[in-house]
Amino acid sequence: MTAVLDGIGVAVPDRVVTNDDFAARLDTTDDWIRTRTGIGERRIADPAVATSDLAFAAAQDALKHAGSESPSAVLVATTTPDHPMPGVAPLVAARLGWDAVPAFDVQAACAGFIYGLAAAAGLIATGVSERVLVIGADVMSRITNQDDRATAVLFGDGAGAVTLRAGEAEEPGAIGPFDLGSDGTQVGHLMVEAGGTRVPGPSPEEPARFLSMNGRDVYRHAVRRMTDSSSRLLERAGLEVDDVDRFVAHQANLRILMAVADRLGIPEERRVSNVDRFGNTSAASIPLALADAALRPGERILLTAFGSGFTWGSTLMTWPDLGFVDNDHRR
Ligand code: UT7
Repeated sequence: MTAVLDGIGVAVPDRVVTNDDFAARLDTTDDWIRTRTGIGERRIADPAVATSDLAFAAAQDALKHAGSESPSAVLVATTTPDHPMPGVAPLVAARLGWDAVPAFDVQAACAGFIYGLAAAAGLIATGVSERVLVIGADVMSRITNQDDRATAVLFGDGAGAVTLRAGEAEEPGAIGPFDLGSDGTQVGHLMVEAGGTRVPGPSPEEPARFLSMNGRDVYRHAVRRMTDSSSRLLERAGLEVDDVDRFVAHQANLRILMAVADRLGIPEERRVSNVDRFGNTSAASIPLALADAALRPGERILLTAFGSGFTWGSTLMTWPDLGFVDNDHRR
């Protein structure tokens, strides 16, 4: 059986933080941020809001639009779980009132949503689950030093969720094949060093608890890996670039996604971007972009993402008829 998408939902915090808000207290400008990243504003969660809160809200939104049957598994792609243990997925399943369903987190940073889709497709293909809820959710502001202009301006908070059911590969909504990869030798370019078993228990003041990044190296690797992964995937699927109607890349930086699309030869009008309004929301970025893109039933979509690890992944899908085209009313 193949995983078929039949519902999508999103949740973002109400609070909007503009580039000018950063410029008012850090040595940066709206022009620098827009020119280098394409970001104009992002949503930032209030201190009381944790990742599971956004994940739960996105799940509720997706379930409203999906078929009536409850999913039989919950996967949450996240780098910013509420706690080091347990994962976010069991918390969301419990809040949804789903008793004893399989629920686990996927940690593949900004590529997590694609990895989550692949894991869900595996659960469906092996008959473990008939319906799976896949959520990408991150509160990146919590692991980003809000006084560091080089990283604080890049990230935003949010969650996106999709419901998947067992179906046929030829159906609209069918997801796959996949191309996934990683390169752990590059770990130092983008990481949160402390808080795990290598460097445990930092005090809140220690910089190691925040995300650190070599921006230029991440940029270079991101462009190469997403381009190569997308090309490999198209070849595996026996498709040409012209067969792709819409291109949804991880919304890290407008320049990165334009560079990948340029290299692949995808025309501008087929590129989807909402990074100007949400910044880099890590695992939430792909579902937020899908929900935002006013996709039309039957359009073939190429999805690709890249993140810390490094990890990367790409997949293909045909957009199903979900009964709406413009999703703006749902935010
Ligand atoms: O999911 C993956 C997550 N990460 C990413 O997607 C990040 C990938 N990398 C990038 O997007 C880019 O490298 C950045 C947007 C982070 C930086 O753009 P850049 O064109 O590579 O700039 P740069 O790192 O070469 O920095 C140029 C200058 C530096 O000053 P000096 O050393 O040349 O004097 C930075 O200190 O810009 C400075 N700078 C800033 N200036 C104003 C860095 N951040 C800022 C800022 N405002 N917010």
